[in-house]
Amino acid sequence: MRIFRLIYCSRAKKVLNFDDVKDLAKESMQKNEAKAISGILLYSNNQFFQSIEGSQEEVNELYLKISQDQRHGSIKLLYYEQVNERLFPSWNMGLVQTEPSQDLINRYFEHCKFVPNLLSPSQAENFLYELKEMFF
Ligand SMILES: Cc1cc2nc3c(=O)[nH]c(=O)nc-3n(C[C@H](O)[C@H](O)[C@H](O)COP(=O)(O)O)c2cc1C
Repeated sequence: MRIFRLIYCSRAKKVLNFDDVKDLAKESMQKNEAKAISGILLYSNNQFFQSIEGSQEEVNELYLKISQDQRHGSIKLLYYEQVNERLFPSWNMGLVQTEPSQDLINRYFEHCKFVPNLLSPSQAENFLYELKEMFF
């Protein structure tokens, strides 16, 4: 099966607490399992940064659903590529459980705040690799 990876970011419509985000990740995890979707979700500075990987059809279909979800807005597609292998083969939707370190943020964002819509496609990909190193 050809694997596609899609990374997007968005802004939550209301400020969420960690339990809200955990519930969202849990709901996503259950749905993704049936569709062989893997990936991770990060919520920080009221922004979502999510990677989804799977067949092109499932990835496209899910992104369409997610982009219509009223819980967030200002959705921006950051990266969309066919890839050789999954980065998160054992996570149907892994949740980044703590804030990324300030050091990581400082290296990617000039103003030292997590503003993912400023990332280029290759920066988004590299940022994802770093999250994997740190949290998974
Ligand atoms: C930030 C965010 C991330 C989401 N991630 C996923 C996901 O990985 N998988 C999923 O099935 N739904 C995800 N959802 C929920 C979808 O937008 C949508 O509610 C859900 O897919 C509807 O599923 P249904 O058509 O089976 O009812 C996410 C929603 C938000 C706001």
